[in-house]
Amino acid sequence: MKKNPQTELIHAPRKAPQYINSVQPPLFRASTIIFENTDALFNRHWTDDYDYSYGTHGTPTTFTLGDQIAQIEGGLYHLLAPSGLSAINLVNSCFLSQGDEVWVADNIYGPNMEHLRNLETRYGIVVKVYNPIDVNSFTPSAQAKLIWLEAAGSVTLEFPDLVGLVKKAQAHNILTALDNTWGAGLAFNAFDFSAEHLGVDISVHALTKYPSGGGDILMGSVITRDKKLHHKLFRAHAIQGISISGDDAAQVQRSLASMRLRYEHQSQSALTLLNWLKQQPAFVQVLHPADEASAGHQYWKEICTEQHSAGLVSVILNEKYSLQDVRRFCDALKLFKLGFSWGGPVSLVMLYNLKDMRVLEHSHIQAGLLVRFCIGLEHPADLIQDIENALQHLNKQQLE
Ligand SMILES: Cc1ncc(COP(=O)(O)O)c(C=O)c1O
Repeated sequence: MKKNPQTELIHAPRKAPQYINSVQPPLFRASTIIFENTDALFNRHWTDDYDYSYGTHGTPTTFTLGDQIAQIEGGLYHLLAPSGLSAINLVNSCFLSQGDEVWVADNIYGPNMEHLRNLETRYGIVVKVYNPIDVNSFTPSAQAKLIWLEAAGSVTLEFPDLVGLVKKAQAHNILTALDNTWGAGLAFNAFDFSAEHLGVDISVHALTKYPSGGGDILMGSVITRDKKLHHKLFRAHAIQGISISGDDAAQVQRSLASMRLRYEHQSQSALTLLNWLKQQPAFVQVLHPADEASAGHQYWKEICTEQHSAGLVSVILNEKYSLQDVRRFCDALKLFKLGFSWGGPVSLVMLYNLKDMRVLEHSHIQAGLLVRFCIGLEHPADLIQDIENALQHLNKQQLE
């Protein structure tokens, strides 16, 4: 029967997909997913991970990416979120209720701490801060529910005593969640990192960094090995309407093929820079877990290799340099761009004042402003030259 041209535009003949083998999997975009019949509609069940019922739940494109991330990290179950921070918040909102105690490392990713402080004010959750390299500072009460770990920690890059902290948490029946963004599932296995096969319960990963690799896509994942935990998270993920775009998932999935090569390359470049940075008198301390002088180095050495030490390195500037001096230095950098994040092709720089960021006293960090370098894919010799040129601007005022 001839239909109205408007209807024909919508119901144009579509060939059923034929088997076609391409290098990359096909891309599905969907909010609505069409059920074949009412049997298919009524027989679906929300606990079925691979159920196709609505776009927020997922498509073959998002499930393919999630499967791959879970496999890289040594996990079994996955959920994807529109950013690393939203994946973190999913864990916090899923497991924390009024009166619960949550433990966070003092060097945890800042917005995670901010989110928890917000829950503390609004919902009566108790936030406690521990020193990641001192297990004795983690003193859970009977109300303790969750501990956040980060290896290496944000900005100051101390590597935590993962073994000691996880053992203690398990002894107290406390859930362990690791922000696994730095290791990316490559530096160590979050679910099996010690000779005794210790592992965390939940691994959260900002896929925005190494998996995306482009500096252009935001995404996060929550990986587990425990079906019960996963189902709790799965329910929270569904009712909060957390979902990602198929286009973004396909882009990240495409980048995964080169992730290990990029990670190893950036780790190597960061080590080259580390050795050079240590020779520069302007920097009184260089922070990198592979450096013997860095706090937590022994814990890093137990479970990671040099090949996999990520592309981040921080320096503490001599206290004689003011904020104005350090700003002049950062502004003078040409290859290092001023911006947040890491894991992309372009090297980035960011400056921090630790005085505004830490709750505890840390005698292992010297006084002075901190600059964090995130090494991209440029040649390390050019990056060194860039810093060397900018250092002349740091000293400019003093020479005048
Ligand atoms: C350690 C760490 N975790 C989580 C995040 C959050 O990721 P996103 O930027 O995708 O929200 C970041 C971002 O910088 C990070 O550095």
